[in-house]
Amino acid sequence: MEKYTEKVIEYFMNPRNMGEIPDADGESRIGSLICGDIMQLFLKIENNIIIDAKFKTFGCAAAIASSSVVTEIIKGKTVEEAEKVTKKLILEKLGGLPEPKVHCSLLAVDALKEALQNWKEKQHSK
Ligand code: FES
Repeated sequence: MEKYTEKVIEYFMNPRNMGEIPDADGESRIGSLICGDIMQLFLKIENNIIIDAKFKTFGCAAAIASSSVVTEIIKGKTVEEAEKVTKKLILEKLGGLPEPKVHCSLLAVDALKEALQNWKEKQHSK
């Protein structure tokens, strides 16, 4: 695949859940070693369910589309379900990414893992 799919372009043009959650229960900030782009993810979690998710991404179209898709996938899911989100699932939802852009979807997965980890650490320190 060499070009962005229509799905990727659509998500890039109309990103879902872009923004911040000031009192987030879990959050992350991940930078890609490959390109230097940065993704921030904010989660609101109640009774083990992700009730809200927002992102801010300083990156390419694929990174923005991947972040947006991740927030859509995890909203309403349990923490355990969210932990199972993979790069493969994101790529499926986007209809694939050009090969040099596959790492951008990994950034979204890493941001999710890190935000869930941050939530867990906050639970322990309560
Ligand atoms: Fe950096 Fe896509 S090129 S995240």
